[in-house]
Parts: sequence; structure tokens; C-alpha cells
Amino acid sequence: MKTISIDNVELHLSHPHAKSAQWIGQEEAQRQLLACWLTVDERDLPLVPRIIGHPGVGKTTLAIATAQERKQDIYIMQCTADTRPEDLLVTPVLSEQGAISYHASPLLSAVITGGVAVLDEGNRMSEKSWASLAGLFDYRRTVESIIAGITITAHSEFRAAVTMNEDESTFEIPDYIMSRLQPGIEVGFPSREDELQILSYNIPFCKEELLNLCVDFLQQAHGYDLPYSIRDGINAIRYTLKQKKQQPQEEDKKLFENAIKQILGNEALDLDSIAEKRKASQNQSPYDDIPDVNLGNLFFPDNDLLNPDSPEEPE
Ligand SMILES: Nc1ncnc2c1ncn2[C@@H]1O[C@H](COP(=O)(O)OP(=O)(O)OP(=O)(O)O)[C@@H](O)[C@H]1O
Ligand SMILES: [Mg+2]
Repeated sequence: MKTISIDNVELHLSHPHAKSAQWIGQEEAQRQLLACWLTVDERDLPLVPRIIGHPGVGKTTLAIATAQERKQDIYIMQCTADTRPEDLLVTPVLSEQGAISYHASPLLSAVITGGVAVLDEGNRMSEKSWASLAGLFDYRRTVESIIAGITITAHSEFRAAVTMNEDESTFEIPDYIMSRLQPGIEVGFPSREDELQILSYNIPFCKEELLNLCVDFLQQAHGYDLPYSIRDGINAIRYTLKQKKQQPQEEDKKLFENAIKQILGNEALDLDSIAEKRKASQNQSPYDDIPDVNLGNLFFPDNDLLNPDSPEEPE
């Protein structure tokens, strides 16, 4: 493990992410990310974008592949609701001899070494943790670890991005933090040709027919904007291939359908009807569920003599 001394405090650095990735298709998203990380003048600063999209569409892959394109090490920081400010920066670790050693997070390791940091699933992190990063993601490019008692200014090559799923929890991030995480880069569902290439890149040992079966399924789902992703497709193919190994006599189509059923549920086998149900619920007026109630019914039971809206005539 690499160590570095800052203001007489020895920090153990994290290892960069070891796996490489290739970005296939959606060149526009990668171009935008590269633009954010460019500097056009020595007084210019890089931007920290939000990479947004449905789960499993390739947000993390885009960040890894783009860091690789810039020939920089990438450090991935998995954010959760339990991520504390110290987890984002420095964690003290007690050794067997009773001495404390300080471990830099993947994020801080990128800040120090000039790597790329990805705050993965950033929308899940609490405001308190985000607050500790405010100075890092604006013109100050500086961060303070209270635990280690040090202030660190980012290396000029340090770059960062935050990935976020497109769900309601995205909006929990306070505005003053959101204003530092700009712009938003959308990753959408891939085209048919790109999807086939992505699947074949990820599962190079799968034969074309099964890949096509999976692309047909995914493309139909994307057409209805259902949240089934390439990751689901990759898992379905892998599971199909494993089952085929055990039961070579079974038809691929049947095994694939079973895989989809087990991964995404029974309803995924009938995409048309899910889409219809969705459409029907979208067309429903928000007032449709409110029963017809007159003012009198709010204050008196239905048959009460004092109820002016009583359905029964008083005798
Ligand atoms: N354009 C692409 N090029 C190459 N691989 C891709 C692409 N899009 C998706 N993939 C593959 O799809 C899978 C899911 O991608 P990834 O984990 O990056 O998605 P994600 O959007 O970060 O998901 P989550 O929201 O769950 O974090 C990976 O195996 C990845 O290799
Ligand atoms: Mg991800």
C-alpha cells in the first residue's frame, strides 16, 4: 500500500480500480464527460458532472472508460445512506501495537494523486456527508479531514463525477451541493446495434442467436420505457448459458424466458400488457380516486337527520 506524508501525518492511499472498461455507442455522452474534465486555460477549472440514468444502463462504465481514455487512474467510492464524512476522506485504523494509522478513501486518494474519482450512486448519501465535500467541488478544490487534522488541496489533474439513478432519492441532495455537481449527463438506453455489441463484448462466448433473443427483449422493453437494463440482459444470458450446460436438450428460447421470469418476474414475459397498464395509470386523472363527497357528509353520518346531503328524506 502506497503511503504519503501530509503535514507530518502519514496517509495510506487506496488502490485504484483495477478493471478496465470499454464504452460502446452513445459517443455523445462520452464526449460531454470528456468536455467536463477538460481545462481550456491554466486559470480554468474542470467540472464535476452528474451522470444520470436508469439503473444498469452503464453510468459507472462510462466514467471508468472515460478515465481510461484520459489515461488516468480511477477510484470508485460507493456511496450509501450510511456513508459518513470520515468514510469519504480519512479513516483512522488502530493497529495491533495500539498505534493509529490513517487510511485515505478512494476519493481522497484520487484528490492527492491526481486520479479520477467516481462517487457512485451519490444520490443515496446524506446531506451531512455531502457538506464535507462542498469546498472540494468548487473553485477552492480543497478538503479538510477533521480526523487527521489536515487540509488537502487537490492535484491539478484531479477529476470527479457523480453517478445517480433517476429515482426520487436524487432530489434529496441539497441545492447548494447540486449547484456544484453540474452539468447533468444523461445515459439512455442503447440502440439495437449498440446493445448487441455491448452484450457480445460482455459475454464473448455466447452465440449470436441467444444474444439476438436478448436484444429483441431489451429493445421492446426500452421502447415502452420499462426499466429493464443491459445488466438484466447480461444476467439473463449468463443464467441461460449455465442452465443450458446442465440441460443441453432444452431449447434456448425456453431457458431464456425462464431466466427472464426468475430475474425480472412473471410480468416481464408480457411486456405489452405492462405497457398498457402503465399507460392506463398515467392517463388516470389524479382526482379519479377521490370519492364524491358533499360538505354535509364531512360533518354528519350519511343518514343523520342533521345532514343536509343525506340521501334519505327525513320523515
Ligand atoms: N455503453 C456501454 N458500453 C459497454 N458496456 C456497457 C455499456 N452500457 C452498459 N454496459 C454494461 O452494462 C453493465 C451495467 O453497467 P453499469 O454497472 O455501468 O451500469 P450503472 O448505470 O452504473 O448501474 P447502477 O445504476 O446499478 O449503478 C456492465 O456490465 C457494463 O459493462
Ligand atoms: Mg453504477
